[in-house]
Amino acid sequence: MSNLQNYWPEPIVRVRSLSESGITEIPSRYVKPLEDRPAPVTEFDPDVNIPVIDLGVGGGGGGGWPGSVLGQVSEACREWGFFQVVNHGVDRSLMREMREKWREFFHLPEELKAEYANTPCTYEGYGSRLGVEKGAVLDWSDYYFLHYLPSCLRDPNKWPALPPLFREMIAEYSKQVVELCGRLMNILSINLGLPEAFLLDKFGGDDHLGACLRVNFYPKCPQPDLALGLSPHSDPGGLTILLPDENVPGLQVRRGDRWITVNPVPDAFIVNIGDQMQVLSNANYKSVEHRVIVNSGKERVSLAYFYNPRGDILIKPADELVTEDCPALYPPMTFNEYRLYIRTKGPRGKSQVDALKSPR
Ligand code: OGA
Ligand code: NI
Repeated sequence: MSNLQNYWPEPIVRVRSLSESGITEIPSRYVKPLEDRPAPVTEFDPDVNIPVIDLGVGGGGGGGWPGSVLGQVSEACREWGFFQVVNHGVDRSLMREMREKWREFFHLPEELKAEYANTPCTYEGYGSRLGVEKGAVLDWSDYYFLHYLPSCLRDPNKWPALPPLFREMIAEYSKQVVELCGRLMNILSINLGLPEAFLLDKFGGDDHLGACLRVNFYPKCPQPDLALGLSPHSDPGGLTILLPDENVPGLQVRRGDRWITVNPVPDAFIVNIGDQMQVLSNANYKSVEHRVIVNSGKERVSLAYFYNPRGDILIKPADELVTEDCPALYPPMTFNEYRLYIRTKGPRGKSQVDALKSPR
């Protein structure tokens, strides 16, 4: 798929090892330029949060989505690009167990994790940087990336074999999260005034669309005001379903010229619109920039499930949403072409989807 090389430009340093080495100052390659550093945490307002929406799945209602659910999701997609969902249909104990098992994985000795080390060619496996630019300022995090869909890319042998029964758990979690994505795709289609299967169809249908998991591990950072766990970016794909660490805030969402710190609700997922959804909806839905801050007291684990269109079909604004008054804002492009950019440069704000805009 890509012309990316099979090796990283510099020796890989595991951020967790660095964190546990007892350093009191972070190496300069993690120090962000002044203008990119996070504001001290005391400036954040605990009363401001992204919308929280009760989907009511499993409530025995059946037969279509209540208008209030549709309305809340519609507003969140158009105004925020981010929302939390509760009563989403995914097993809560499975969510907690997944998070704790991944935490255990990241705490395994480095020699055991080394066998899963990834390369920029596919990103699959255990990694500690995004992007291949030599000398880039790095983020304070390690991660694990794996494919679930399309099934031709699924290779459980590349998933961690430890702790025991972990692979089975990853498969079950993936299945349930993909079902949740299907429900959200229906709601998002209806809210555009289109048939409920519309977006799924544009993504290439059940058999071809993509679903992959990135588990982020943010170790304690001795100088959290100088670093970021994940630099500002928008997610390149369709939808993201994030399982945050309930006890440790870290995700911040762009709102105008402010960064809002998300306050995770118990057992909720954080949902956000990706760039491909912004393109398909002709910017009715917003893919919003976000970043992750770190802290000196607690490590943080998050599971980001990316639900993406099939890589080789052209994604463009839906004809049904293009009129004389609302011309198509983006030219057609495949997701494979689009994704190469972020994989080459690493996270870079919203420059990519903005650069795509057709001149008017
Ligand atoms: C991501 C992401 C947020 C978080 O993985 O793309 O934005 O809270 N993660 O870890
Ligand atoms: Ni993201």
